[in-house]
This record gives sequence, C-alpha cells and structure tokens, in this order.
Amino acid sequence: MHLTRRAFTAATAAALAATPALASPARKPIVIAHRGASGERPEHTLMGYRLAVDQGCDFIEPDLVLTMDGVLVVRHENEISGTTDIASRREFAVRRTAKFIDGEKVEGWFAEDFTLAELKTLRARERLPDLRPGSAKFDGREAVPTFQEVIDLATAESRRVGRTIGVYPEMKHPAFLASLGLPIEARLAAALKTNGLDARDAPVFVQCFEAAPLATFKTLSKARRVQLVGAGNPAMVSAEGLKAIAQYADGVGPDWSMVLPTLDGALGPPSALVADAHAVGLLVHPWTVRAENRFLPAKLRRGTSLAEHGDAEAVFLALYAAGVDGVFSDFPGLAVAARG
Ligand code: G3P
Ligand code: CA
Repeated sequence: MHLTRRAFTAATAAALAATPALASPARKPIVIAHRGASGERPEHTLMGYRLAVDQGCDFIEPDLVLTMDGVLVVRHENEISGTTDIASRREFAVRRTAKFIDGEKVEGWFAEDFTLAELKTLRARERLPDLRPGSAKFDGREAVPTFQEVIDLATAESRRVGRTIGVYPEMKHPAFLASLGLPIEARLAAALKTNGLDARDAPVFVQCFEAAPLATFKTLSKARRVQLVGAGNPAMVSAEGLKAIAQYADGVGPDWSMVLPTLDGALGPPSALVADAHAVGLLVHPWTVRAENRFLPAKLRRGTSLAEHGDAEAVFLALYAAGVDGVFSDFPGLAVAARG
C-alpha cells in the first residue's frame, strides 16, 4: 500500500508532536530499533519490527541492498547466507560465487544475483543462533521484506499505536552497487518521494558509512541524513571532522564506544563527541547497544556465558546522560525502559 504524503501526515499528525526527534529542541532521545527487535527475533523481519513497535521504539531501522531487478530489499549485507536459508536451497546452489566488495573477498550468494521473485522464496533466519537461541526459534517463518513493505508497516503501525513510527534506512555498499549499474541513492530517494517522505520534517533519517553517497543523496531528497562512523575512524569525529560532516549531514551515528570509552573494563567518562557535534548542529545517534555479555564491557557482564544479558541499562543511562539525541539498540524495549 502506498500512501500519499497527505495521507501519511493525516494519519500521524497528532502523534507527530509527541515524537521526540521531531518535537522540540529539549526532546527525549529517540529509540531506534536496530534491524527490528533483533535481539529477540531474526533481524530485518516484519515480526521483529512489529515487536519493536510494541516495545515503544520511535524508529525502525532497515539496512538496504538491491535485487537484480533493482528492488530495494532489507538485509544487512548483500551476501545473504548469514540471515536466510539460501545455503540449503538446492535450486540456487549454482549461484554461489565470490566477489570483491569494498576491498574484501566475500563468498556466498548475493542479493543482486536474484530477482525479487526468487528472493521472496527464501526464509529469514537468526544470524547469531548461539547467542540468541530464543530468536532462532522463529527461523523460517518470514520472507525477506522489501523496503516498501517496511514503510507500509511503519505507516500501519503508526495508526495502530497512535504515534509516529519513523524509518531509518541505511544504504549498504553504495559504491559496489553503483559499479554494477545499480546506484542505490536514486532508488531510495524515489522510494521516499513515492511515499510522501521527501521532506525535512518527514519521520526519516537516511544513514551511510560512506560520505559520498550521503552527499549525493542530499541532491536528490530533502530527507535528513546521518553519517555513520566506525570505531576505527576517530578523525571523523574530531571537532574538525564533525565540522566537515555538518556540510552534508544532519547527524552523526558513531559506535557508542566513541561517546563512552571503556576504562578498566567499565564505562569511562564521556568523550567530547556529543558537545562537539552539537556545537556544529549535528544530532548524535550512537549504535548499537546490545544486552548480551558478548557486547558489553567486562564489568557490566553478569552470569557466566556470553549469551546471558549484562547491565545494558548502565550503557543506556550513561548515553542519555551524555546528551545523545537517540540510540540504536537490538533491544529497543530496554532502551525505552531506561529512558523512563
Ligand atoms: O546503522 C547503525 C548501525 O546499524 C551500523 O552498523 O553494521 O549494524 O549496520 P550495522
Ligand atoms: Ca545499520
């Protein structure tokens, strides 16, 4: 279902003012459901997004790649064996191949080698079954969603729960896809426009680790943009680096450890990142808080196994206290609870 901008706005206008990211400068940080409620359901599934909405998230995050026929589909990477049942599908065995993507050799099956109709025959599964056996119980239940299905879900869920559920799409591998003749920026801009989301006040943030695609996207759409930054790129979040990002983006999405460095196995004092970003007008949306011990500093771990949950609440509270404008989490319910 496609809604016009007018219909989308009418459906959500009352809730819009209550949405933290869009309401006022003194707003609550937004909670972004990272790949859905991906700690509890296979990532990038409609059931995972619905659970995240039930848990109180403000935005749902789809990572985007493209099919052979140019359709935006929701996967974390274009190689799909980690999150679908493709490896067990004999009819597709011959499509296994190797490619160089962003400087690395990757082997497997790639979304851009399948039509949407073919991709839709696959079933999603949990990426981390050892850490997330509860989520793995939902393996095989759902297909790979298109971006349009995720927008439609956000629209329908906004109506159902009476508040705006935004979408926070990430362009994955844009340079690689452009080299195949499948530029993702234009397709994403067109999709947002079709859905009435080509506006600065639309409940949308477009994210990317690469700067050039964001700059290109700025010429194609009015939707807001966020520059992602990995922990290995500290220069990008220096005061100078942030000033450069502010030329083409509305926000920065750093690894959360760049806001809260670990000190002796515990959370250390916050870095200058939030203050420096705010000084040049950038929002700060760190990623990705996960509850399992595996992803937490040593002193926040609880129990004995890496799969058990540690003190993620301490991370959320420290990020909120540091002044972030939002947070990505695989456990949006915990992020909402800590926000209080
Ligand atoms: O988009 C924020 C965060 O998701 C970036 O990392 O690898 O999970 O897409 P990744
Ligand atoms: Ca992402």
